[in-house]
Amino acid sequence: MENRQGVTPPLILAITVATIGSFQFGYNTGVINAPEMIIRNFLNYTLNNKLGNPPSEMVLTSLWSVCVAIFSVGGMIGSFSVGLFVNRFGRRNSMLIVNLLAVTGGCLMAFSEMAVSIEMLILGRLVIGLFCGLCTGFVPMYIGEVSPTSLRGAFGTLNQLGIVIGILVAQIFGLEAILGTEELWPVLLGFTILPAVLQSVFLPFCPESPRFLLINRMEEEKAKRVLQQLWGTHDVSQDIQEMKDESVRMAQEKQVTVLELFRVPSYQQPIIISIILQLSQQLSGINAVFYYSTGIFKDAGVQEPIYATIGAGVVNTIFTVVSLFLVEKAGRRTLHMIGLGGMAFCSLLMTVSLLLKDEYDWMSYVCIGAILVFVAFFEIGPGPIPWFIVAELFSQGPRPAAVAVAGCSNWTSNFLVGLIFPSAAYYLGAYVFIIFTGFLLIFLAFTFFKVPETRGRTFEEITQVFERQTQEARGYGRSPTLEMHPFQPEKESTPGI
Ligand SMILES: *[C@@H]1O[C@H](CO)[C@@H](O)[C@H](O)[C@H]1NC(C)=O
Repeated sequence: MENRQGVTPPLILAITVATIGSFQFGYNTGVINAPEMIIRNFLNYTLNNKLGNPPSEMVLTSLWSVCVAIFSVGGMIGSFSVGLFVNRFGRRNSMLIVNLLAVTGGCLMAFSEMAVSIEMLILGRLVIGLFCGLCTGFVPMYIGEVSPTSLRGAFGTLNQLGIVIGILVAQIFGLEAILGTEELWPVLLGFTILPAVLQSVFLPFCPESPRFLLINRMEEEKAKRVLQQLWGTHDVSQDIQEMKDESVRMAQEKQVTVLELFRVPSYQQPIIISIILQLSQQLSGINAVFYYSTGIFKDAGVQEPIYATIGAGVVNTIFTVVSLFLVEKAGRRTLHMIGLGGMAFCSLLMTVSLLLKDEYDWMSYVCIGAILVFVAFFEIGPGPIPWFIVAELFSQGPRPAAVAVAGCSNWTSNFLVGLIFPSAAYYLGAYVFIIFTGFLLIFLAFTFFKVPETRGRTFEEITQVFERQTQEARGYGRSPTLEMHPFQPEKESTPGI
């Protein structure tokens, strides 16, 4: 990483501890896949005990689907509730409080087998989903608000790194040799309690977001001290001034509600961009590919497809790190477009190779290669960027509402892809990936025409881009002092550092 001033031990601590929340999201997303058969057996056994006769295959499959999907329902509700917490309790304390949900959900899942209770398992998945939904809002917001402008993107990518490491750890723990067994699956699901406790122990040593302290709480002295400590520099007056300006402007607006995001013209464009970027992440087909990959690896003659899936998880992690180093050099817009373009090409290649793999054996290897490169391109842009760019596109007032709307779009589209993909794959076969190619190209065009570069700009400057565009659209004419435009080369200076 660039070794500029601004990276201090307190900053590293704050961001590392926050990303435990991202790890939790990744872990609980990935943990349910490996022990599918074992948990189905538990459901079968439990129902058999209760009803006196074994349940039908269909009842079992429905119950299993509920166990999987209820997590996303919780996530939708949780992500939409972010605004209820962050302004009332502050960013850090919100992260601290919701760990209670993680412990509750973890206990419910861990003890469901002992209590022979399917209800506990389902309720536990719901609670843990709620928790993860809240985390997907809190973590990018907190990271965005404590990071210096020049490193906001790199640190924002750490959120995604936390997620993919969580998924990877869940896959590894889920192996039969570790926790994926008849006896140990409750431990596998309950493990999530451990990071929750760890985060709760360390969060009190992390500072509250200085932007929250100054803008929401008017505690200027405290905000200044936190900034100086976090960024390791004495002169933070410029940043304090920027926050104060924002604070003045915020005092003129009421607290921004979700409805106002869509009504106030200067918020309309950034909220649409935020939603579409979230959709570009989920409709890229990444989860469908992960879902499909095990089958493809098996077809290609890989003996233990689970290890190939773990291999994809490793590629996932490595390229998130690559993105971390690139995002402050190449910019968000460029990386997002490279990612989408690469994925579009790979999904086309997947379709072709799947269609031809019965005629040519080596096509299986092309397909495996296409899957791995697809995953790599995902993590270059569409994986990490949508999460943190939302916090960048809005100033303090509308940010909580915007993060809630964006998070909810992400969870909802994730849920819908999971729901629709299996039947789409059944009816369309290999052609199913062409749909994703289409989506990816549309999102590529959207990013090219609509998404501004946010690298190296303060929140205030980014907001002004949209305000100016709104004014122009209304025919107020060009403001001579503002010369930023999404398609012009970005500013090189990094104010405030
Ligand atoms: C459920 O368990 C019963 C025995 O208790 C077994 O006969 C049946 O095959 C199981 N069903 C499934 C779908 O595994």
